[in-house]
Amino acid sequence: MRTQVGIIGAGPAGLMLAHMLHLEGIESVIIERSKREHVQNRLRAGVLEQGTVEMMRELGLGERIGQLGLEQHRIDFRFGGESHPIDFHEATGGRSAWVYPQHEVVKDLMAARTAAGAQMLFETPVTAIEGIDGTRPVVRFEKDGVAGELHCDFVVGCDGFRGISRRAIPAREGQVHDRIYPFGWLGILAEAPPATNEVTWGCHEDGFAMMSIRTPSVTRLYLQCEPDENPDHWSDDRIWSALHKRLDVPGLPPINEGRITQKGVTAMRSFLFEPMQHGRLFLAGDAAHIVPPTGAKGLNSAMADVKVLARALEQHYQRGSQDLLARYSKTCLKRMWLVQRFSAGLCTMVHSFAGDSSFVRRLQRADLDYMTGTTAGRLQFSENFTGLPIDA
Ligand code: APR
Repeated sequence: MRTQVGIIGAGPAGLMLAHMLHLEGIESVIIERSKREHVQNRLRAGVLEQGTVEMMRELGLGERIGQLGLEQHRIDFRFGGESHPIDFHEATGGRSAWVYPQHEVVKDLMAARTAAGAQMLFETPVTAIEGIDGTRPVVRFEKDGVAGELHCDFVVGCDGFRGISRRAIPAREGQVHDRIYPFGWLGILAEAPPATNEVTWGCHEDGFAMMSIRTPSVTRLYLQCEPDENPDHWSDDRIWSALHKRLDVPGLPPINEGRITQKGVTAMRSFLFEPMQHGRLFLAGDAAHIVPPTGAKGLNSAMADVKVLARALEQHYQRGSQDLLARYSKTCLKRMWLVQRFSAGLCTMVHSFAGDSSFVRRLQRADLDYMTGTTAGRLQFSENFTGLPIDA
């Protein structure tokens, strides 16, 4: 097989990149190890930054976001027994965030790729990436036990945190920056109407909690727990009791209870691999970086990466210039370190760390007071939450 850009992975990064390239007349092939149905039905929460929604709309993919997406203007931070909302729409002069699950984004992108007659190989694990130091890289894969190879000009690793592409960069050339947090999130899906139509964060000394909206009749909830927690140790009663304690405040509607249909524990880490390119191989999305879910930056950072890369590949093919390609990693890393800073800072501010001294806990409270109670604090949160500019 032969194409211009070989893309490994049919997650949001791979699908978005392929579609952006297609609209510029640049050929690509996506090679995905899972079944199409598995990729499309992988349930993941999602909050889209203003920039991600604008990208989807520019690609003609904004229709279902308009129908199903819930535009958000505020987040309600609850601590000290009170509500401390930040109106990020007002603070940024009109930028919003949308509650729109990631699997819906994947569904929109997959439909667009299929309608465009895209070449997507499913159930086809990539087994090796070769020749990235030359000009004719090769992606080796297996399909039904038969070995195959894709010859291309460029390879893009959109294969997620556990993918193969990052390992194709020689260890001496790459550096990992990593932080593992001493807690996880117990994620809960409940058949209960959300108590309010605003994402609500509880920053309680017992631990963090969040209430988000999945649909008008389904609430998405999170509880800080041990990183290796067994969800079965959390009975429904224990879950609702902790959620009420961490999220309810006097004078506002309490969390609505309902049948819990899903429970699962997510570990927390910050991870970044530098550089995000080597020769003709480029990394995008979770293949290069992971953030804790506090800032809702996983999907949005993947989109930012591929926007920069699509622009760089377009410049290569249409104007013969390598400048943007040569600067891809530097451009993405500059923004990604600011995203890591925001996500890690929020994670540290809103969670309770066992064994913290009273001094540290009071500093956390001062951080929350400053972030929610001052113009500068609200603006800094709002600029980051609705999405930093993408230098594409
Ligand atoms: N060969 C082919 N495909 C592979 C291989 C391989 N060797 N390894 C991984 N993949 C595929 C996975 O099956 C998956 O479908 O790559 C895809 C990676 O998709 P994601 O993990 O969704 O990564 P990305 O597209 O960067 O999106 C990041 O997804 O995981 C969430 O929280 C994350 O919101 C973030 C978003």
